[in-house]
Amino acid sequence: MGALPRRRAVSLSGMDVLFLSPAYPPEMLQFTRGLAEVGARVLGVGDTPVGALPGHLKRNLADYLQVPAMGDPDDVFRRILAWLGGRRPARIEANWEPMTVLAARLREALGVPGMSVDTVVGFRDKPLMRARVEAAGLRVPRSARVRTASEARTAAMAIGFPLVLKPVAGAGSADTWRVDDMLQLEAALHATSHVAESSLEEFITGEELTYETLCVDGVPVYESVCRYEPSALVARKNAWISPIIQSYRSVDDPSVRAGVALGRDVLRALGMGTGFTHMEWFRLPNGEAVFGEIACRPPGANMVDLMNYSDDGDLFREWARVVCHRDFRGPRVRPWSAAIVFKRAEGQGRIRRIDGMDAFRGAFGRHLAREDLLPVGAPRRDWHQTFLSDGNVVVRHPDMGETLRMARLFAQSVRMYAG
Ligand SMILES: Nc1ncnc2c1ncn2[C@@H]1O[C@H](COP(=O)(O)OP(=O)(O)OP(=O)(O)O)[C@@H](O)[C@H]1O
Ligand SMILES: [Mg+2]
Repeated sequence: MGALPRRRAVSLSGMDVLFLSPAYPPEMLQFTRGLAEVGARVLGVGDTPVGALPGHLKRNLADYLQVPAMGDPDDVFRRILAWLGGRRPARIEANWEPMTVLAARLREALGVPGMSVDTVVGFRDKPLMRARVEAAGLRVPRSARVRTASEARTAAMAIGFPLVLKPVAGAGSADTWRVDDMLQLEAALHATSHVAESSLEEFITGEELTYETLCVDGVPVYESVCRYEPSALVARKNAWISPIIQSYRSVDDPSVRAGVALGRDVLRALGMGTGFTHMEWFRLPNGEAVFGEIACRPPGANMVDLMNYSDDGDLFREWARVVCHRDFRGPRVRPWSAAIVFKRAEGQGRIRRIDGMDAFRGAFGRHLAREDLLPVGAPRRDWHQTFLSDGNVVVRHPDMGETLRMARLFAQSVRMYAG
């Protein structure tokens, strides 16, 4: 079990917040910092050994329970209840998707305010999510749950091509395939024969965008829209692509209004409570918005950083303020549209050379908000495993078109080589 040495001076007046997995993924260190900064006494629970926690994280934790494996929620649940004894934290929170249901179970067991298990499952289970969103009269892709190849063929005929085949319990576009005809369907079924249950759905031809919020009792106090270029599916299937994610300066931009309205309706349909949300939606050529999916947690892929670069705010801390005090004090004006561009090196092994960065920096240095490419000599990351790939830059400009132009130029002109 490994408690932290209680040498740190903590605010005795602060509320106890139990935060699941404070050390993983890396953004969780920042959310832990945010909690500490708004006066919470953070009780962390994770499977990282105390000795391996970074010093600054330890300073932001009032207490820590080390469990054998966060992947075993029943065991973690029992251990937390035993560890807390009679203590009842004021909040129990998780910002890492696999932990969100466990946080809700703990809240229910201890009578702590926050979203119920049923509500959180509506944000986790895709078919249930779709059903609830559709029942509210909102536009979702037509889809069917399929368990066998013959069910898939029948559903394909009923829905019509093009289609997407994806696992019901998927993440990271793993085992997700676009299929344009019966031959491709057979190939995709073959490639996913290890998947127990899939969703076969109408392929939505359009641009892919997001809608993020911080909510207090389901009412957004912060909203943001970003656009993927290309779609997440295309970006994840093609190593040579440098994916771009770009933030809009305003959710009142006429080109995203339909998606924002959809997002607000989805939050109501799913009974959102307090915290972060991340929705993906499609914009059809006629401007119509179609629901993709939503989660009651922050987005990944460094998008919280991206949103912070749009207004120099600190959404890590503002999330904490929202959760602890139901208050948001972040900037109201977004001076920049920011874009993050992810790089994948060519070749395997260690980074050997980076071409074009000096020229790009020379031309656009003052618009370069972050430069975070792996240095020469560093081993390549596995781009299948992490969207962060071999590094990224963030560019920003008041004009969205200029931001996108710089992001595309970086994508095309800067190349990393490994070998
Ligand atoms: N019906 C659809 N029409 C068009 N594209 C789709 C559709 N469903 C999924 N996609 C594409 O596949 C990607 C992955 O699908 P989805 O987001 O549902 O799965 P996921 O496994 O949760 O992915 P991630 O974890 O990356 O968000 C989407 O981001 C989108 O690019
Ligand atoms: Mg997705």
